Amino acid sequence: MPKEHNRRVEARPRDLLSRRGNYGFDAPAVPLYLGGGGVVLLGFAILSATVWDGGTWALFPLLGGLFMLLSTASYIYTTRAGKFAVWAEILRNLGLREDEHVLEMGCGRGAVLLMAAKLLPQGRAVGLDLWRTVDQSGNSMEMTLENAELEGVRDRVELKTGDITQMPFPDGSVDVVLSALTIHNIKDRHARLKAVDEAVRVLKPAGRLAIADIGHTAEYADRLRQLGMSDVQVRGLGWRYWYGGPWVATTLVTAKKP
Ligand SMILES: C[S@@+](CC[C@H](N)C(=O)[O-])C[C@H]1O[C@@H](n2cnc3c(N)ncnc32)[C@H](O)[C@@H]1O
Repeated sequence: MPKEHNRRVEARPRDLLSRRGNYGFDAPAVPLYLGGGGVVLLGFAILSATVWDGGTWALFPLLGGLFMLLSTASYIYTTRAGKFAVWAEILRNLGLREDEHVLEMGCGRGAVLLMAAKLLPQGRAVGLDLWRTVDQSGNSMEMTLENAELEGVRDRVELKTGDITQMPFPDGSVDVVLSALTIHNIKDRHARLKAVDEAVRVLKPAGRLAIADIGHTAEYADRLRQLGMSDVQVRGLGWRYWYGGPWVATTLVTAKKP
């Protein structure tokens, strides 16, 4: 008989998707510029076709404007809904036990961290972040704590300020490490690899890792293999996690520590 405190929680994506927190927009300048550019181009197309009698030349700004507006719609869908649906499935596939200790590297306002926390009634969900508002609108530790309250998981959530390339956690102390759209923000390759090294360092033996990102995922997978991680897998996460279109798609890297 499995012990009560070791029970595996059946993660039901629908339960996870009923949100009460406020999660902002990822890289908020991007949809602003994309949407703004789309509106300007459409305005230009309308003026070109009507006032300036531009004829077929109006087609170029019209197509450009429509393209940018569709891209904005994809971006907004992903950041407000799509990423939540995808992470509900990823967390389900991870088969979290209710007493596990989960760490998210770069948790921001808690979109992923607080979903994980819902699956950990006896466990802990720890978020580490630098709270950069350029990467997520309204990003702050206070905002994430407020979201934890709203989601009813404040009792098991802990937040820390720090850099994911130098994590303030002991070796082998975490069951599951998560990261969503964070590591690519580090421009220097060596520093990105250091973040991957840190993820592996803090994992317990048999710990699991899931990194979702819009770039450098082959680099993360190679590093994980070099570090001796097992079952390293890379897969695309589909249209619900496109930031504007398939040219900015999110890929998942998963692995286990032997
Ligand atoms: C696009 S947001 C994603 C937040 C959250 N994971 C989500 O999916 O909603 C990226 C996050 O990474 C954080 N971040 C960027 N570089 C970091 C670093 N070197 N160390 C810690 N956090 C970092 C930002 O502050 C931001 O909260």
